[in-house]
Amino acid sequence: MKSINKRGVELLRDPSLNKSTAFAEAEKKALGLVGLVPDVTETEELQLRRVMMQLGHKTTDLDRYIYLVNLLDHNETLFYRTVMSDPGRFLPIVYDPTIGEVCLKFGHIYRQPRGMYLSITRRGKVKEVLKNWPQKDVRFICVTDGGRILGLGDLGANGAGIPIGKLELYTACAGVPPQYLLPMYLDAGTDNEQYLRDPLYLGLRKTRPPTADLYSFVDEFVEAVQEVFSKCCIHFEDWTGTDAVHLLQRYRDEYCVYNDDVQGTAGITLAGMINATRLKGTKLKDEKYLFLGAGSAAIGLANLLCSALAAQGMALKDAQSRVYMFDINGLLEPTRRDLADFQIPYAHEHVPTRDFVTAIESIKPTTIIGVSTVGGAFNQKVVESMSRINKRPVILALSNPTEHAECTPEQAYAWSNGKGIYAAGVQFAPVHYDGQTFLPGQANNFYIFPAVGMAIFATQAKRVTDEMFIEAGRAVADQVPSELLKQGLLYPLQANILEAEIQTAARVAKLVFDSGLARVSRPTGDMVAFIRKHVYKPEYAIAAQVSRTGLRAKPTRRPVLRRRPRFSFARETSRK
Ligand code: NAI
Repeated sequence: MKSINKRGVELLRDPSLNKSTAFAEAEKKALGLVGLVPDVTETEELQLRRVMMQLGHKTTDLDRYIYLVNLLDHNETLFYRTVMSDPGRFLPIVYDPTIGEVCLKFGHIYRQPRGMYLSITRRGKVKEVLKNWPQKDVRFICVTDGGRILGLGDLGANGAGIPIGKLELYTACAGVPPQYLLPMYLDAGTDNEQYLRDPLYLGLRKTRPPTADLYSFVDEFVEAVQEVFSKCCIHFEDWTGTDAVHLLQRYRDEYCVYNDDVQGTAGITLAGMINATRLKGTKLKDEKYLFLGAGSAAIGLANLLCSALAAQGMALKDAQSRVYMFDINGLLEPTRRDLADFQIPYAHEHVPTRDFVTAIESIKPTTIIGVSTVGGAFNQKVVESMSRINKRPVILALSNPTEHAECTPEQAYAWSNGKGIYAAGVQFAPVHYDGQTFLPGQANNFYIFPAVGMAIFATQAKRVTDEMFIEAGRAVADQVPSELLKQGLLYPLQANILEAEIQTAARVAKLVFDSGLARVSRPTGDMVAFIRKHVYKPEYAIAAQVSRTGLRAKPTRRPVLRRRPRFSFARETSRK
């Protein structure tokens, strides 16, 4: 439990301690707050009710996002209480898909700094800059250079919204305490001309430097983090595909780092593939995979999938031979001269083709995975072709935000005559087709990275390994009840996300201890109980002076809400 170590206006301005209208009379007296806040003591439930009512007056998700961030700037506990009260409703607002629009407009809707902004012009001084952060024990930095934000391309400093949103999910989904989290934007410029011309753009007004310069800046940053925050894990997010893969290779053996686009996406997709095979009655090794997109998400997933198959006894080469990729220049095959080193293992002998349907007809995949950023790329011909070849085609349309999904669930179910097994990267509503109700799952890595983060936090893991993401994927898959799986749901429901992530974190934590990577002693008891001990709860601290004297906060009498308030707010049409 946090202690209140501030008084008066200073206390009210600290979002981690501020209780707004919920200070008890004894606290107001002890903390110099009399007259500075309304003369009531509201329950947290009543505060939540006000938030819901005010949110109900907003007409767009962007407005709701701005409102919630403002709440976070003033009252962190109430913000997390709100988001954690109904994750299915609030995750799409604080993160995908609203975050895409937030990033596109970041410089325009900006109100207050959050996290750190570190520009390449500070080279040589990175350590000093990091020391400006007020918290000394930082356990996670989520860092982007804005190079490839969601499926929206190079957004430069507007990408700063991503690490902010990602780290909120560490807390909201898995209970990692917010004081240990630091969102970070590394500013090396942008090649986005629209932003370079925008007077309200908040980043450096220069184009991106050569890769060697960028990497030497990142080197200085990674090393400075080790010195300033010795227990910190660095989470790389939304770099371009090539940088994502190369930077991960550069640091993963020496430092506690991971890349969520590479490893987190892979973990969540693996979970979906495991459940798809459960539905079909097959095994992962029986499947053949064709990716649309061969960037960081595709490579991360393919590598993790092959590692999982290798762990089941298949030779790595054989595993790789079951994975094909198709990118903007066509099918990956050995005559192509534009392939990156990490794509070579998936370039198999085949006649060159730039037509995805031709590739499907000849390769005969059982599963297609869209990580191309191209909305609508799985068109009717693609789905029909998959349905001709497979009794139950698996169609994973993972690109986001919503408009970038390779196909919608309605399309997947209709074009496959209800046979398709489908998941998307964003949330879609249930689909009624031909007298049946289908539940499209959300293959979003927010089922994985917060849980892996919690396991790292609780065990103080020294390194982050692929095996941790494989175990997380398996744990997520195991948590889908069979009756929901039968309706096509490949992932757990968001309503229970905290509990699901605690279970996942416990399995990953066990692996961390088994692998000798933990920096704390192994708990003697149950691993789930061990994780629970570390979980943040959105509850207010009680002032030490008040709890010592035994004066407990006594709320004024207010109408008691019998059930959790469920205020509805109008959904935008873009959100299905
Ligand atoms: P990336 O930029 O590294 O790769 C994109 C790939 O798509 C490249 O190989 C490119 O050649 C290919 N591509 C582009 N246009 C194409 C076209 N017309 N036809 C075929 N291929 C085309 O991006 P990354 O990191 O791999 O992400 C891709 C998408 O996956 C993004 O939309 C991202 O938001 C989404 N994603 C979803 C996640 C989830 O949890 N659902 C997690 C991570 C990424």
